[in-house]
Amino acid sequence: MVIAHLSDTHFDGGTRATRRARRVMDYLNGLPGPLDAILVSGDIADHGLTPEYELARAHLVSEYPVLLLPGNHDERGTFREVLLGEPPGGAPVNRAVTVGDTVFALCDSSIPGRSDGLLGDDTLGWLETVLQRGAPTFVCLHHPPVTVYEPTIDRIRLTDADRLADVLAGHRNVTAVLCGHAHAGVATTFVGRPLVVAPGVVSTLLLPWESDRVVDRDLPPAIAFHVLDGRRFTTHFRVVV
Ligand SMILES: [Fe+2]
Ligand SMILES: [Fe+2]
Repeated sequence: MVIAHLSDTHFDGGTRATRRARRVMDYLNGLPGPLDAILVSGDIADHGLTPEYELARAHLVSEYPVLLLPGNHDERGTFREVLLGEPPGGAPVNRAVTVGDTVFALCDSSIPGRSDGLLGDDTLGWLETVLQRGAPTFVCLHHPPVTVYEPTIDRIRLTDADRLADVLAGHRNVTAVLCGHAHAGVATTFVGRPLVVAPGVVSTLLLPWESDRVVDRDLPPAIAFHVLDGRRFTTHFRVVV
């Protein structure tokens, strides 16, 4: 199984964000393939507005399944209505999508009106029931549940990571945890599972030992390819110029 993982498109109605997302999708759709899925791990829109989601809906298109989850810049009701074609509603946008024999648990870690993340009782309870099915499962959420050494992001990371750890520790079928939010390709572990953050499409966040600046908007967009071969999980990162 091969998954393309991108994140943080931040569609804002302007040409810059749209052009960068378009470049990534054209690259993926032009590959010989096949891919099994394309995951976009949140901050799809910049302000959660309908026209931003209309742009996302027009450009995040592929012959492969495109799996979307919300981030802190997204708005649940509009996300549901425009991207999923569902009635708007304020409940967490949690969805389990099965591709082949693998489940993508697409978790909503957003907190309306805030930048940090929380899964909370509803989403953690839902995730528990998804994992109980026993299928190999990618746990996907916007906010990394770990420190990534970007001070601006570490201040607004997942706040109930310990509770997520407790849920994942009880299930051997968690293949990997896939996140966004950090606008950087990051690989680490969480509860002994691989944890990978996809690079940001719209921009790259810099590390304290790289620069006094926080964000670089000139570095090209990048993506991750995840390969699942039996139980082995491998990631490649690719810059899209
Ligand atoms: Fe973002
Ligand atoms: Fe974010």
